[in-house]
Amino acid sequence: MEDFQIVHFGLAGLGNVGMGVYKNLLKNGELVASRSGIRLHAKRIAVRDVAKHTAAGIPAHLITTDWRELVNDPEIKVIVELIGGTTEAYELVRTAIQARKAVVTGNKALLAEHGRELVALAEKENVPLYFEAAVAGGIPIIKAVREALIGNNILAIYGIINGTTNYILTRMADAGLSYEAALGEAQEKGYAEADPKLDVTGWDAGHKAIILAWLSYGTWVKLEQVYVEGIAHITQADLQFARSMGYAIKLLGVVRLDTSNNIEVRVQPCLVSRSSILAHISGVMNAVAVYGDIVGETLFYGSGAGQDATSSSVISDLADAADNLINEAGTNNGFVPHGQYGECLPVEETVSSYYLRLRVDDRLGVIAAISTILAQHGIGILSISQPEVADEATEADLMLMLHRATFGKMGAARDEITRLDCIKGVPVLLRVEALPGKK
Ligand code: HSE
Repeated sequence: MEDFQIVHFGLAGLGNVGMGVYKNLLKNGELVASRSGIRLHAKRIAVRDVAKHTAAGIPAHLITTDWRELVNDPEIKVIVELIGGTTEAYELVRTAIQARKAVVTGNKALLAEHGRELVALAEKENVPLYFEAAVAGGIPIIKAVREALIGNNILAIYGIINGTTNYILTRMADAGLSYEAALGEAQEKGYAEADPKLDVTGWDAGHKAIILAWLSYGTWVKLEQVYVEGIAHITQADLQFARSMGYAIKLLGVVRLDTSNNIEVRVQPCLVSRSSILAHISGVMNAVAVYGDIVGETLFYGSGAGQDATSSSVISDLADAADNLINEAGTNNGFVPHGQYGECLPVEETVSSYYLRLRVDDRLGVIAAISTILAQHGIGILSISQPEVADEATEADLMLMLHRATFGKMGAARDEITRLDCIKGVPVLLRVEALPGKK
């Protein structure tokens, strides 16, 4: 074994991703050392349940239940936070930065909520904070935006940035699975967050969009400024109709700057043309399209969740942290955005075309009543479809494709339509997202 320099790190959290880091460093640690000249050594691991992990083969001398032992160990120079949540993880990351340890975290919720403060603290203490695993699992999107695209104004980012919801939508569309069955599969495969509500409500993607917006525009958009909608209301009828019209339904994170320097940050299920690559990103895979003013369109694709893929990003951060320690910032941490390049645009002012599905009484005058309201709000109809129903049926689905309008105007029209007594159930309103350069 070659005589490489050693960097000791403390690993807080040995769940799905933490275990991946431990296991994959056993597998490829020598490879990393041969490439970087530095051996990464997990000196201490903080867990909740010692017995569970010793039974799984983790040496008992590595384990503690107190993450402070990691932070207080002078030999440990890097703390890896993979415990999740925003309470204890916040305390851990703050304490580690104050103890002047480099920090690696995969915690997007923590950064979305406390990123402004933690980044400022890290700058003050002059310690690096790494978070490649926080966005899009195994895809090196943070490095790409921070380093490879540093010379670009970021015009827009469109991303499928949640593996669980993409898995659910794919299995529903391709295998006809129910929402519940597809979610169960995603959980079994270890894609979903400990609380899958974060995935299916769109908030996991929302947290990632906030991080991408900060990297792109230097602005920490507040949680309440981000419009986030989940996928639980999407049905087979929506998926099949979208397909028949040449679209797929994808949960898209959108981060973009308009010509008046308004920043749009939102997460919504959208109809995406099947002529675009994003429409064909299946299963747990993520894809992030980044548009720069110099580079044009770039597209990053890979596993968005899962133990191995996400641990690959953590190991990359660990290698960077170790390299910085040994070589005294011999390579860069990537830029920290100091400028602030725009104001947040309220979602009501964002513009797109739309898909609206209505469950209606199957009787005369219904379409007339709906189109009157749309016309009163200045919203044009592109097409109306009503899949045939049996003669004796009393209700039917109406699918409308609608011209471009602000989300505010569209929402007001939808609400007025919902109050018509011919409307049954809750209408489904989805954006039709036109990607740059696509129809
Ligand atoms: N639950 C997340 C997802 C894991 O499904 O994308 C990666 O952040």
